Amino acid sequence: QREKVGVMSQQASTSIVIFGGTGDLAQRKLIPALFELTYRKRIPDNLRIVCFARSDYTSESYREFMWNKVSEFRDLATHRDEWQEFARRIHYIRGNLGEPEGLGVLKEGLHKLDGGADIPANWLFYLSIAPWLFEPALRNMAAHGLADETSGWRRVVIEKPFGYDLKSAVELDSLVGHFFDERQVFRIDHYLGKHMVQNLLVFRFANAIFEPIWNRNYIDNVRITVAESITVEDRGSYYDESGVVRDMVQNHLLQLLTLVAMEPPNNADSESLRNKKVEVLQAIRRLDGLEMAQNSVRGQYEGYRREEGVPEDSITPTYAALRMDVDNWRWRGVPFYLRTGKAMARKLSEIVIEFQKPPHTLFPLMSDEEIPSNLLRITLQPNEGIHLGFQTNTPDTDMRSMERMNLEFHYRSAFRDFSIPEDYERLLQDALLGDAGLFIRNDHIEEAWKIVDPLIESWAESDVTPLHIYERGSWGPVAADELLARDGRNWLRRE
Ligand code: BG6
Repeated sequence: QREKVGVMSQQASTSIVIFGGTGDLAQRKLIPALFELTYRKRIPDNLRIVCFARSDYTSESYREFMWNKVSEFRDLATHRDEWQEFARRIHYIRGNLGEPEGLGVLKEGLHKLDGGADIPANWLFYLSIAPWLFEPALRNMAAHGLADETSGWRRVVIEKPFGYDLKSAVELDSLVGHFFDERQVFRIDHYLGKHMVQNLLVFRFANAIFEPIWNRNYIDNVRITVAESITVEDRGSYYDESGVVRDMVQNHLLQLLTLVAMEPPNNADSESLRNKKVEVLQAIRRLDGLEMAQNSVRGQYEGYRREEGVPEDSITPTYAALRMDVDNWRWRGVPFYLRTGKAMARKLSEIVIEFQKPPHTLFPLMSDEEIPSNLLRITLQPNEGIHLGFQTNTPDTDMRSMERMNLEFHYRSAFRDFSIPEDYERLLQDALLGDAGLFIRNDHIEEAWKIVDPLIESWAESDVTPLHIYERGSWGPVAADELLARDGRNWLRRE
């Protein structure tokens, strides 16, 4: 970490410019992450945070507004002094990014903060804005030369959604590519900032014992669950347009799948990693409409239609369960089951690798009994950890009784003196360093759309996949259990 700060501090002054500076993401994630990075001395002193939005704030009143907002989610009361010090970095510039002159005002304001137009300075633009503002924002940025790197580097961080489907993603990308060089572009999927997601690479490729069995010869199936207990909250109108597949599957779940399934790259540089991930997406079996319907379950939580911004007759799914197949030498025949939903029993993001059962048993079992498989559970959140389940003989029962026990590792108890950084901390730091390894390349995004577009279409066009209404606080529709039961498998529920 110290090295990272060192590299950054040698540079000219840098501004992170947040477009959408008064929005939800800035309040909940970006400003708290930057506060944390300052507090932990992970970013250089000459880093400025410039929030750009239409509302009528001064830098002073904006700092006050942010203090109040961030205090809603975090206990800042004991950190007032640290906040005061942090808040000095924050500046507010008022303007409309949709109007050509808006970004002129921003540019002038940035030069002023840098000490003049001829002083070298770096600018990182963070586009945390509604999708329909991407185009005008990018055009106006280019018109004002905000991509020009004559006097310092210029980078742009783009938040999802990257398009609405393949076609719009391609269009968005060609627009971005028209104004920015690929090396300047950082597309965020915040799941890649999660510590356990990065640890998955270490787990797989820094240990020699797992890789030999990480394939169809030993693994029976892979199950990925990203359950959320929250509802759509106040994002009803955005969510209703998007739905669970665009909101979660196209990005976060497919990211997790690629990290489990990818081949070992030759080294850890960003291109090698990203190439291997794209290869996995390319190997995912493409299904026609009917096959899609047969291999998917969609659900909507009870009461969703009463949420603010949601039409009374909405058929937008808030839950999806899917079976996917990766057709290559390593994975052919091993199903990958994915499920995600809102208003579920609890927040849980977990990858379960189920190994094959022992081929032959030496032990007396009941006629309908089987020795359960070994399970490897990788918990991404909450309580990040790894569990390996195996059979043990119950004491004093001769060989008659067995129980599954776990070898367990939990970050919080193993590394008591460390705290795990929030997703956005790591990603913001990497973007400042110009390290794109944890950001998504455009070909990945397009491959992911190629996988989910037919699913979205099949759900929209046919009623072969019924929309199941599921109870809030449940594990989703029963039909999702049947999807696995059909293959003789089941989710690991934890009621
Ligand atoms: C976002 C989705 O990308 O991820 C939200 O738009 C979702 O709907 C969120 O709640 C989940 O992120 P996390 O980090 O809480 O699992």
